Amino acid sequence: MTAGANSQPCALVCVTGCIAAYKSCEIVRLLQKAGLRVKVLMTEHATQFVGPTTFRALTHEKVAVGLFDDPEDPIHHISLAQEADIVLVAPATANVIAKMAHGIADDLMSTTLLATRSPIVVAPAMNAGMWENVATQENVEVLKRRGIHVITPDSGYLACGEVAAGRLPEPAHIVDVALAVLGEKGSLAGEHVLITAGGTQEPIDPVRFIGNRSSGKMGIALARAAQRSGARVTLVLGPASVEPPAGIACVRVTTAAEMLEVTSHAFADATIAICAAAVADYTPVRPADHKLKKTEERLDVVELTETEDILATLAAKKQDRVVVGFAAETSNVVAYAQDKLGRKGCDAIVANDVSRADSGFGSDTDKAWWVTADGAEELPCMAKTDLAGEILSRAKALADVRRAR
Ligand code: CTP
Repeated sequence: MTAGANSQPCALVCVTGCIAAYKSCEIVRLLQKAGLRVKVLMTEHATQFVGPTTFRALTHEKVAVGLFDDPEDPIHHISLAQEADIVLVAPATANVIAKMAHGIADDLMSTTLLATRSPIVVAPAMNAGMWENVATQENVEVLKRRGIHVITPDSGYLACGEVAAGRLPEPAHIVDVALAVLGEKGSLAGEHVLITAGGTQEPIDPVRFIGNRSSGKMGIALARAAQRSGARVTLVLGPASVEPPAGIACVRVTTAAEMLEVTSHAFADATIAICAAAVADYTPVRPADHKLKKTEERLDVVELTETEDILATLAAKKQDRVVVGFAAETSNVVAYAQDKLGRKGCDAIVANDVSRADSGFGSDTDKAWWVTADGAEELPCMAKTDLAGEILSRAKALADVRRAR
């Protein structure tokens, strides 16, 4: 099963009995940060290293351990196997790798791994001797031949005192691989989606700036949805109140000029650009290099100049690429958006009605219209995460039509 752009995919993290089991907590957290629902399955031995309560608290889900532990679910291994959009075995001991290679199904984890039809990522971690052993290496080759993704362990200081290959790679790297595998068959596989998000801050002096209250939520929801659907994503993020998702190339910027520079550069090999940032319309002409003193200098008059329009700049050189902008309106939403579409030369405008309490800055939902040269499509008020999926599938359809010409 491959996750759609707007459904929340489920990752099953299988934790085996290895000293690196504590790192699985960070893996769980990063997967959640990337927008996935996470369930944890542990071997009995793994519970000697980390308590199931820790994972239960992190995931708010029951932690699976024994084959017959859940009286409400007599075929637990099948439901776990079917529910997962991706299975991640991290850390994977030599034992679980051997069981997988030979189809052994003698506990909840090994039966689930045998039953699942979803992609599996294995992150081995063990003593160097066990890793180098021909038995383990041959088992790993068997898994790879079957299309299972095996992440090569890092070299470094091992729990046994040796400095050699066998360390669990960094959780962020493991999560990157898992997200890439999850997106491989996604609807945006092969696309490079460039997204601007957050606000900008235009300096008046080293301590004061002109800024706005953009939360960055919409742009970050877009980045997450695009990543989950298999796109390569570049997120150019100004000041925002929400953190960027794990596993996404994110460039932090502060001013409109910086955002323009980074975005223009990334646009070179993008296929879809979505400008969701609330870019300051004006910037001080001459920001002071020292803190202005109200007793000595005029703080009530700041000479401003218009910022360069990033959306219009990208649209002017878009060729085959699809460029989408946003509009925040309080009245005549569609008419203003149509005007903006023409002025900026982009392919579509997502027009938000920010006069409503359930739409726009800081809210988790949006009431929007998808406005193109062909007309305006009214979308129901929905979660920003769902709207992200709607925007991406429409942008992808435009890109496909353009490339087919
Ligand atoms: N935008 C941009 N660069 C700017 C200003 C805006 O890329 N310097 C983009 C935004 O990311 C958004 C769209 O343009 O996609 C919003 O256009 P804007 O003219 O700022 O619209 P509003 O904020 O709605 O302002 P107004 O209605 O006054 O035109």
